[in-house]
Amino acid sequence: MPETLETDAPVNFEVDPAFRADVLRGLAEPVPAIPARWLYDRRGSELFDEITKLPAYYPTRTETALLEQVMVDLPGHVASGGAVIEFGAGSATKTPVLLQAIHPKAYVPIDISGEYLEQSAAVVDADHERIEVHPVVADFTRPVALPTEINGLERLGFFPGSTIGNFVPKSAAALLSHFRDILGTGSKLLIGMDRIKPVDRLVAAYNDPEGVTAQFNLNLLERINRELQADIPIDAFAHEARWADMLGRIEMHLVARRDVEFTVDGQRFAFAEGQSIHTENSHKYGQRGARLLLLAGGWTPLAEWLAPHEAYVIMLCEAHPDRFAP
Ligand code: AVJ
Repeated sequence: MPETLETDAPVNFEVDPAFRADVLRGLAEPVPAIPARWLYDRRGSELFDEITKLPAYYPTRTETALLEQVMVDLPGHVASGGAVIEFGAGSATKTPVLLQAIHPKAYVPIDISGEYLEQSAAVVDADHERIEVHPVVADFTRPVALPTEINGLERLGFFPGSTIGNFVPKSAAALLSHFRDILGTGSKLLIGMDRIKPVDRLVAAYNDPEGVTAQFNLNLLERINRELQADIPIDAFAHEARWADMLGRIEMHLVARRDVEFTVDGQRFAFAEGQSIHTENSHKYGQRGARLLLLAGGWTPLAEWLAPHEAYVIMLCEAHPDRFAP
């Protein structure tokens, strides 16, 4: 082996091996699909931020407005001086209003991106001098150890943004039950969920006339080309948002506009015109469905706040101890 390896090929040291594995596996599946989390690289996160400001994309602004109302009532349900644990804190834009309403002793943002986390922790630190901030860099779908500094404090989990909608109900229930394991019996959870509404409004939110959601979806192919030595002709694919009624979800797909062949990491793939790569799900819930999902994950609903036209719901629930009998 030579000590230094000279090559003209671009070397990308930051490629996550799990990304390569997921793409190669997903493209070879009978129903091609790639896990939605790979949509959120730096560019994808920027585009998602842009999506949240689009007129057609109602969830973010609806939830933000609803949170103001929730905060009026929340002190009646949650004691001050506890710990707030936010799952997937991101840039934590919705957190200050929560912290101001319930005055916790500690705030624990959990996020996979350390960069985002530092930013959010700093903002919260500056605004709330009397709240201790203990950021945790972790994937919240995996086991997470909470900082020992919050031992003995009452816990409120915070999971806004209808992120739960990204998970199929079976995984969503498992994730909620995982949150219950992390937070412990007796803790509470405040969670945002998008509601079922007329199909044209749902589809419009994921197929904006500005084409930002299309860019967001197609960025996945660009990321594959950039990071995985691939040659996918981007213009051979079109963004599509579909409502799958039986499954209660919006699906994002990348549909081949013609027969196309390409290579990813030396492996050859062929798509026939009309064939698609499924890239994201966004599940919507009715009232009973939302309550049942929480119950299935081990959380007892305590209160819920509905946005105008029942467009969105924020729910408070509690992890009751397991019971021996009814
Ligand atoms: C971040 C999962 C809540 O499903 O509405 C928005 C992602 N994708 N437009 C959603 C998304 C396309 C968003 N979540």
